[in-house]
Amino acid sequence: MGPTLLTHASQLLTLRGPAPRRGTSMRDLGIVPDGAVLIQDGKIAAVGPTAEVTQVPQVRALLSGANLGTSPSVEEIDCTNRVVLPGFVDSHTHPVFARPRLIDFEKRIAGAHYEEIAAAGGGIRSSLRGVRESSVHQLATAVMRAFHEMAAHGTTTVEAKSGYGLTYEHEIHSLEAIRLAAAQWDGTVVPTFLGAHVVPPEYRDNPDEYVQTVCDRMIPYVAEERTDGASGNYKLARYVDVFCERGAFSAEQSRRILHAAVVHGLKTRIHVGQLTRTALELFAEFHPASVDHLDHLNEADIAWLATADTVATLLPAANYFLGLSAFPPARRLIDSGASVALATDYNPGTAPTASMPFVLSVACTHMKMSPAEAIAAATINGACALDVQHRKGSLEPGKDADIAIFDAQDYREIPYWFGVNRCLRTITQRQMAG
Ligand code: NIG
Ligand code: FE
Repeated sequence: MGPTLLTHASQLLTLRGPAPRRGTSMRDLGIVPDGAVLIQDGKIAAVGPTAEVTQVPQVRALLSGANLGTSPSVEEIDCTNRVVLPGFVDSHTHPVFARPRLIDFEKRIAGAHYEEIAAAGGGIRSSLRGVRESSVHQLATAVMRAFHEMAAHGTTTVEAKSGYGLTYEHEIHSLEAIRLAAAQWDGTVVPTFLGAHVVPPEYRDNPDEYVQTVCDRMIPYVAEERTDGASGNYKLARYVDVFCERGAFSAEQSRRILHAAVVHGLKTRIHVGQLTRTALELFAEFHPASVDHLDHLNEADIAWLATADTVATLLPAANYFLGLSAFPPARRLIDSGASVALATDYNPGTAPTASMPFVLSVACTHMKMSPAEAIAAATINGACALDVQHRKGSLEPGKDADIAIFDAQDYREIPYWFGVNRCLRTITQRQMAG
């Protein structure tokens, strides 16, 4: 792809500056009115007011060289009446599943609770059969569809978890499906192993044996260094996640799993505090990149997050879809100095949405985050939650040119218009996505 020049954005949100954003700095989006961005070789080469960027010698040379036919033609994108921002970083998704969970959906509408449905054979365990009966290709097709839907809503980086196979074989299939889909998608994918999502039915009477399998068989395999001609060295997953919760894994079991992850050179992240509180400090030694959900926290947890490098990732689409009236305490977290990220939690049980703009909208209306805080949480802080902030999450020279273009003149319109998609296109580091 040749150079690309975006010009005349009504607002260009750079999100430049220190990362992660905490406290009042979450409100600073680094807005450039009438903004321009030059993209070269998939990277941001220049960014600023259109009047300045078009005068940069490198840009002038490109534009005149293109006119004379001596340098590659520059694709110019007129962004008048558009908001241009870093592509969203959706730092928490579960895209490897075969079918929607419509029975759970109807049961909840009729008044049943998430945990009751799970105890009656629904919930996460009811998604296992579909994954176990699918081929890797079928799973990859489902993941691909999710990635495309995410990109259509402005997302350019996605964290993707396994977690609906829950056997050695099917967890590996799930991670292979993520890898296959990632190879065909223009965005960036960060894979996570979530073999400890729930205890599968085969181990119902002996959950510790399943934990042992996760630690002794699955994690070592996932952590193996592999090579492939096209992309060089890789591991099947970069992170290990665990669902630390009543009905899933205890804090002690979760610690064993996270310990195994660290021993094998993988990084950690945790589902915690969704239904009940677990003290976050119990996990400090594993330096989780992110702790996610956080509906149930106390002051000690918030104080820990205020100073830790760990990002607090909130998933309010799950609360919305479960029909809950309570939401995670975003205001207390931000006001205490925690770095807060937002993600979809895309999954068949609690959050069947690929739309980051919808998540931003719920974050504003139900968690009282300001539109600016929500955008910082969905871009630069999401990048920090995946430890990719040196490449993603802001529009600064040298970073990957991952960009979303919205049909809006003011960034506040992004969470304001809900239930419709105002994202016009995304640009990712590899090529244009429609
Ligand atoms: O993040 N909490 C655990 N995992 C998902 C739910 C998965 C499911 O219900 O299928 C979540 O909400
Ligand atoms: Fe989740």
